[in-house]
Amino acid sequence: MSTSALQTSASETRNGPALALPTRWPSLLRPDVLADAAGPTPFLLGSTELVTSKLRRFRSAVREVQPFYAVKCNPDAGVLTALAAEGCGFEVASLGELELLVGLGVDAREVLYSNTVKPASHIKGAAELGLWRFAVDSAGEVAKVAREAPGSAVYVRLAVEDDQSAFPLSRKFGVDGGKAVALLLEARDRGLRPYGLTFHVGSQSTAPSAWTTALRRVALIAAELLDLGIHLDMVDIGGGFPAWYGTPVPEIEEIGAAITRGLASLPYTPELLAAEPGRHLAAESAVMVASVLGRERRGGQDWLHTDVGAYHGLIETQQTPSGWPYPLWTSRSDHGTAPSLSYVVTGPTCDSADTFLDRALLPATMAEGDRLYIASAGAYTLSYASSFNGFPPPQARYTATSISTVGRVVPQPSHAVALRSAG
Ligand SMILES: Cc1ncc(COP(=O)(O)O)c(C=O)c1O
Repeated sequence: MSTSALQTSASETRNGPALALPTRWPSLLRPDVLADAAGPTPFLLGSTELVTSKLRRFRSAVREVQPFYAVKCNPDAGVLTALAAEGCGFEVASLGELELLVGLGVDAREVLYSNTVKPASHIKGAAELGLWRFAVDSAGEVAKVAREAPGSAVYVRLAVEDDQSAFPLSRKFGVDGGKAVALLLEARDRGLRPYGLTFHVGSQSTAPSAWTTALRRVALIAAELLDLGIHLDMVDIGGGFPAWYGTPVPEIEEIGAAITRGLASLPYTPELLAAEPGRHLAAESAVMVASVLGRERRGGQDWLHTDVGAYHGLIETQQTPSGWPYPLWTSRSDHGTAPSLSYVVTGPTCDSADTFLDRALLPATMAEGDRLYIASAGAYTLSYASSFNGFPPPQARYTATSISTVGRVVPQPSHAVALRSAG
């Protein structure tokens, strides 16, 4: 069937209403701005201004807490440099992430290492660079940290309720209160500094009460530890703060109020109240720009093959039972006036598992060469992308932009941002 015949039958039987630009699509990355971005696809077009404005709002909404950005979420040098310039701290999962930060001028002493099970060589290497705070959740890891980084500080990760998040983490990480107390005592016996407690309510959590509940649990453990002569220097409330993916999520101010309620239950205020936001700061800062390689009709469905897929940065669509609803737009001039059609959207590889959208509403007129714009793609995309099947991963193109500019984005090299170390 030719494309035009296909489109005719689509308009007769399957077409829906014309589409409107999803609400909250960032104005700095509007479709007319994206249309000006030349060069081969796929690429991730982002604005560091969108990251730092999120950081500023986070800070005023969650006043008591100091943010330590989770590098794994988006390790683009422009993003890290812009956050460092704002005095944001960092959280790493490996020595490689720490070396990246140090290479950008960040002071390793200001960085938290929150992966609870680490290669011994990474602990040693991180300590040599000056990092001194390590998360643990087992006796084996306490012994490993004592061996590789004697005298350093450890904070214990608690398992907490995370069932209202898109990506729960407490099956893999964390211990209960009794074990946390035992681990901090063990750390003290081994000459380590029993430094704090941490938790993670799961990524993309939509329940502000999850932070309140977790902090109330921390409060009980902190009181017990006080009786045992351990005063916590840090409570670290982890990440999990949600981003917009086309459907409403709690505002950060609502979450901030829930955190304030939880903090009120602590028996004392630790010297450092930390958070490790990742997705909330990075997701909405970038749009993935892909091209349609081909349009097909298979099994009664309309398929678009694009040059980006689950293996090229969009794997989160495979990690949740209901898929991942990235907000979409395209380069088509009739987007917004043409009728819509539901497509299956797949990647460029010879593997069907790189299909990343099942019911994407796009113009019925989509054709080879059109560009697909995937919004809220700044988190957990670049860092997951592979070159499977010989297709290159998306290139990151972050610019620092003047938000006051009306009309076109004025790009500047993001590394032009003055860098000062975190903390
Ligand atoms: C230890 C730790 N901290 C922070 C984060 C960032 O979480 P999010 O992106 O949900 O804010 C993660 C994500 O997996 C994590 O494992």
